[in-house]
Amino acid sequence: MKIPTIFISLSAVLLSQAYAQQQDNWAVLVAGSKGMWNYRHQADVCASYQLLRKNGFTEDHIILMAVDDLVNDEDNPFPGQLFNEPNGPDVYAGCKIDYRGSDMVTPETFHAVLRGNSSALPQGSKVLKSNENSNVFLFFSDHGEIGFLVFPEHQQLFANALNSTLAYMHENKMYRKMVLYIEACHSASMFDGILPNNLGIYAVVAANATQSSWGTYCYPYDIVNGQHMLQCLGDMFAISWMQTNKNATAQGGDLSVYTLEHQFKQLQKLVVKSQVLRFGDLSVAQEPVMAFQGVYNQQKHLQEQQAIYGGVDAHKRLRELARLQLEESIEELNADELVQKSSQEQSDAKLNYLYSQLLEKVRGEDAQIDFANEITRRMKVDNIFVKIAASLGLVDVSTETHVLPTNFDCLSSLIESYKSNCGPLHDYDLQYTAYFVQACEKGENSAQILSKNIKKVCSSF
Ligand SMILES: *[C@@H]1O[C@H](CO)[C@@H](O)[C@H](O)[C@H]1NC(C)=O
Ligand SMILES: *[C@@H]1O[C@H](CO)[C@@H](O)[C@H](O)[C@H]1NC(C)=O
Ligand SMILES: *[C@@H]1O[C@H](CO)[C@@H](O)[C@H](O)[C@H]1NC(C)=O
Ligand SMILES: *[C@@H]1O[C@H](CO)[C@@H](O)[C@H](O)[C@H]1NC(C)=O
Repeated sequence: MKIPTIFISLSAVLLSQAYAQQQDNWAVLVAGSKGMWNYRHQADVCASYQLLRKNGFTEDHIILMAVDDLVNDEDNPFPGQLFNEPNGPDVYAGCKIDYRGSDMVTPETFHAVLRGNSSALPQGSKVLKSNENSNVFLFFSDHGEIGFLVFPEHQQLFANALNSTLAYMHENKMYRKMVLYIEACHSASMFDGILPNNLGIYAVVAANATQSSWGTYCYPYDIVNGQHMLQCLGDMFAISWMQTNKNATAQGGDLSVYTLEHQFKQLQKLVVKSQVLRFGDLSVAQEPVMAFQGVYNQQKHLQEQQAIYGGVDAHKRLRELARLQLEESIEELNADELVQKSSQEQSDAKLNYLYSQLLEKVRGEDAQIDFANEITRRMKVDNIFVKIAASLGLVDVSTETHVLPTNFDCLSSLIESYKSNCGPLHDYDLQYTAYFVQACEKGENSAQILSKNIKKVCSSF
């Protein structure tokens, strides 16, 4: 049966009012990285802020963490602005950041925000003030490895620590239902076998435990106002969940029946480079998307869309522009295909960033030196880990190892030992912590040998 559009938008408005009255909506948005080569994470998070605000969230019910080092970076071609899609809108204007700087965007702040623990933070800091009638939505975008998510100074948010904070929130009735969307490599390992299914918490992740998640709108599709940004503007899972939210009303969908379940099915189709998976209380998926992400009023925002894209087909202008600049026919690509085609693996983001600087001949000799240095650094790290893992009979990290951590103390202490003996774990290096997981799960003996190897190998470099 075809329901007239007018009825749908009216019922959506009524429904959204009903939700607003019954429930208190909160959102926590976190970008866990810094540096221009990680541009996409902060762009994702500011774009999600803009979306939630448009969808009816008030400023005081969104808590946003982002280092905010990008808009004034000398390599940002558009100072003071951030873009999350080619020729898209500036998502920085109005993006209200509550915790900025590497010293504030930390796992400690994250836990305190979720626990509503203002005493752990500077006076006047914003924390969750949600209760048993609140729907809480969390979106995190950054790097991750098996068993942890990363924060800007290479700190780890371990899966068991997140799990304890979620348990605390449950015990203290800090939500009615809670939904987590995680854009990070190996993000399934944050919940697989860990998150209980009886807490009313539902988590959707961008990648399975052994996979990278993917950036998108990457070079050479990274065009803003005729200029290459030299990297990825967004991430595939992040862009896709935001797009499905907007698309639901654009397609005349009835928002009261567009559920998290529907969104999940769509995300599984759209995110082609990694497996979108979900964990926790799957009954939450029967709730409408609008109960956590609000309602996008297509009618209201049509004007803005037109101003940006100059037409009904949101990506028409981009395609035309890209065709001219890429000297390649991509006319046949629709918006979903563009997201897929312009993707890159997250762990190579820095190398790709430096490489596109070379191709576009920016920063002259400096770019060449930085590119060469990054390759040398990667080779050195490869070499260090060959030696660290030697003679322990561990499975090569490039193969699918499927070993998930249970001994987080061991994992954490090996990571700390690596950092103090060998230096920080950069984005590319993170993959090798899968060796630490394997050694810890094999037993104390293996972990001790590995720990000795770390000291021995790194003292000789
Ligand atoms: C709140 O923060 C304080 C100070 O860091 C800490 O001592 C306390 O344990 C925290 N409370 C909770 C519930 O996490
Ligand atoms: C996760 O939290 C639940 C309580 O919510 C607890 O029963 C379980 O042991 C925790 N798992 C881990 C790995 O920390
Ligand atoms: C992750 O997905 C890849 C590709 O579909 C698959 O080969 C691999 O076995 C999966 N790993 C896990 C842990 O499910
Ligand atoms: C938007 O809706 C169209 C038509 O239903 C669908 O083909 C497309 O996959 C959707 N895209 C997104 C990102 O939701």
